[in-house]
Amino acid sequence: MTTQINKVLFVFGTRPEAIKMCPLVKELEKHPEIFDVKVCVTGQHREMLDQVLNIFEVRPDFDLKIMKQGQDLYDVTIGVLSGLREVLEVVKPDVVLVHGDTTTSTAAAMAAFYKQIPVAHVEAGLRTHNIYSPWPEEMNRNITGRIATYHFAPTKISKQNLLDENVKAEQIFVTGNTVLDALHMVLDKMEQQGDIKTEVEKQLVENGLPLATMASWNGNNKSERRLVLITGHRRENFGDGFISICQAIKKLAQEYPEVDFVYPVHLNPNVRKPVHDILQQADLDNIYIISPLEYLPFVYLMSKSYLILTDSGGVQEEAPGLGKPVLVMRNTTERPEAVTAGTVKLVGVDEEKIYKEVSELLNNEEAYDLMGQAVNPYGDGKACQRIARLLNRNVTIEQLAEFF
Ligand code: UD1
Ligand code: UDP
Repeated sequence: MTTQINKVLFVFGTRPEAIKMCPLVKELEKHPEIFDVKVCVTGQHREMLDQVLNIFEVRPDFDLKIMKQGQDLYDVTIGVLSGLREVLEVVKPDVVLVHGDTTTSTAAAMAAFYKQIPVAHVEAGLRTHNIYSPWPEEMNRNITGRIATYHFAPTKISKQNLLDENVKAEQIFVTGNTVLDALHMVLDKMEQQGDIKTEVEKQLVENGLPLATMASWNGNNKSERRLVLITGHRRENFGDGFISICQAIKKLAQEYPEVDFVYPVHLNPNVRKPVHDILQQADLDNIYIISPLEYLPFVYLMSKSYLILTDSGGVQEEAPGLGKPVLVMRNTTERPEAVTAGTVKLVGVDEEKIYKEVSELLNNEEAYDLMGQAVNPYGDGKACQRIARLLNRNVTIEQLAEFF
């Protein structure tokens, strides 16, 4: 049998898409006899995207460079759609790979559809069933799902969501989430290369975290100084939501001077302003407002943290594997698996509620221990191998069945 080469075009543009797609790029690039891999970044994010490309050593073939300060959803959609027209004409891929629920991924799926090129959706089938929460992500993934030919669902629940929408079972594959592949890659790297830890700590010191303070954080251990790690960026929390989140953090920092609160702030001006006005201005010794971190230092801080307060999707998937309780500052989640397992809890954005829930975990050891169990509902670090197998046109159905 002659080997059929599959020409694959990756399109992604934001930090989380890059973290979850770069390991897959690397996996497909291991097999040049099977895959002709091209990568197009839209540049929906710039610095935060480039940080990830550097770590995974992915060099894009195309960069649409669409990011503008304060861009809105129209800007991103138009930039991606019109930029991809020429890329698709030049590359003529057999399949376009998009990820998750960003506007990059939905506009890219539409661009591929307009050329009648099949779309493979990585991290398919996540749903809250509320189109305004998260907004616009819930609608983005619905639209991408309608367009996609291949659906790589991370869990059985996400597969069931697609079945409920009448997607054919033979088009859906449960692969696990590639974020676990990314996490394993960096954890292995940190374990195997001792000097990397020193390099990571150096980066964190340059970001404003004192070495001695970092040394005192001891993960889930209750006896030493404790670290509460914070991230937040959801559009539906802009305005009052972020003000309330920041007020809660300030109150917690005042109430618990023996706990450190570290917040690497997303570059979106809608996030930076309230964080600056409320938290930076508060000038408290135990609040560290720092720049977005590269993936390695961020994972390092997750592993050193006592608990994580976030509205991020990716962090909800990573932290449970590290045995970290996660309080999610949202009212809905498309990732119910870790909530069911008990390590993730939805707390919304109400100031009092956030204050109360964090306090409970800081004060009540029993409640903390119940949430601090390591669980791994999102994958085993082999999602990329499974997806590569599925995209390989030379593998027979029988061989596939052996693998799954
Ligand atoms: C986007 C995604 C969201 C994803 C998030 C991950 C959409 C609609 N939103 O939201 O689903 O969860 O990324 O972080 O697709 N900026 C920079 N440099 C950067 C990145 C952002 O300066 O490297 C600033 C710019 O002013 C930019 C703004 O942040 O205009 C907003 O970026 P955008 O991608 O539109 O929205 P996010 O909130 O990042
Ligand atoms: N992350 C990072 N540096 C940071 C904050 C987060 O590398 O300073 C990583 C985090 O580990 C996760 C991803 O970024 O893999 C999540 O991105 P984000 O929260 O921006 O987007 P979401 O997952 O909500 O779409």
